[in-house]
Amino acid sequence: MSKPVIGIIMGSQSDLKIMKEAAVFLEEMNIPFEVTVVSAHRTPQRMVEYATSARKRGLKVIVAGAGGAAHLPGMVASLTSLPVIGVPIKSSNSIDGWDSVLSILQMPSGVPVATVALNGARNAGILAAQVLGSENKAIAKKLDAFKVTLRKKVEASYKSIERKGWKAIE
Ligand code: RP5
Repeated sequence: MSKPVIGIIMGSQSDLKIMKEAAVFLEEMNIPFEVTVVSAHRTPQRMVEYATSARKRGLKVIVAGAGGAAHLPGMVASLTSLPVIGVPIKSSNSIDGWDSVLSILQMPSGVPVATVALNGARNAGILAAQVLGSENKAIAKKLDAFKVTLRKKVEASYKSIERKGWKAIE
């Protein structure tokens, strides 16, 4: 397997059921990635090592997910100039998801985290691939083909609804 270019990290193994969606998409695109747990609060030194070594290890984008007081994506962004995509997770310790969203979204000026929707790990995987696709033609081609599948799915649904009316309900 070729060297990972995307790092998928999360604050806890309990986040994996959500974060796996980023991995699944990258596998579909055949983009090499690594996946591991890095906790901002419980393994802060590991977080510093991970973020500061990421570029020289060949990573181009980091996808970071966390829930509750979700400091991992922002702290990683503070330690590297690689793009960081944050995934707010509605975890067991999250009040209602807003805590995770706002912790990741409301970064100070100068330290952006590209924040996707609550539990939006698949979109994080797609966005990470798109960042790579801005330079890599082979990845861009696969993403263009992926977008065609999205369009075709909607076309099939509106044609079905226009044909059957409300009886097209699934
Ligand atoms: C956060 O606390 C993690 O990202 C996870 O979403 C949440 C709960 O962690 P566990 O108690 O399941 O390890 O730091």
